[in-house]
Amino acid sequence: MQTAPAQSRLIIAVDGPAAAGKGTLARGLAEALDLPYLDTGLLYRAVARRMLDAGHDPQSDAEAAARALPASDLERADLRTPEVDRAASQVAGQPGVRAALLDFQRRFGHARGAVLDGRDIGTVVFPDATVKFFLTASLARRAERRWLQQGGQAGDALSRTRRELAARDAADAARAAAPLRPAADAIAIDTDRLDAPAVLAEALRIVRQRLPQT
Ligand code: DC
Repeated sequence: MQTAPAQSRLIIAVDGPAAAGKGTLARGLAEALDLPYLDTGLLYRAVARRMLDAGHDPQSDAEAAARALPASDLERADLRTPEVDRAASQVAGQPGVRAALLDFQRRFGHARGAVLDGRDIGTVVFPDATVKFFLTASLARRAERRWLQQGGQAGDALSRTRRELAARDAADAARAAAPLRPAADAIAIDTDRLDAPAVLAEALRIVRQRLPQT
């Protein structure tokens, strides 16, 4: 019996709180290992965007919007505003929304293997992922990164970014549905003291150790 090449089933989960460096690491891994990459936060952001565009309260039932979400919505340029940050966290707390988005994520991963970043990839979406990383960084460092990504405006914007990040992390970690937490078998990497190339090198070393043929 022929088995599928390991690469086609290679799933790498990258979880952690906002602005911990997940996207940078996941993109780097995907490129180095020639795997598709999915930023799963975009799914929640796109559902939130649809709710806002329709004039619906993002706290009201968003499952129908999640079930009808076209993949092309992930390409929208307006998914990273502070308003969508808040609304995405609200729709992400809804079990119906999470269930609706689960299939999309699993289909994506099963097609060719993948690197996926999010909050629950290693715990819920792919509990059997080949390698699971959980990135951490101090709130101060993460707030600074997010603030710089958003253009580094003067004034009280940095402290506001910090407050908003802390509030979203608390909501993501406290929710009943797939809360943010490391999988028992996740490898933690603290990105406070490592720059992006060093984080990628360390993660690649770990992946290659597990899969000598990659
Ligand atoms: O990673 P991000 O900031 O783009 O995520 C947007 C929101 O979606 C955030 O509140 C966390 C939530 N999210 C989630 O609950 N599960 C995921 N797998 C990805 C994101």
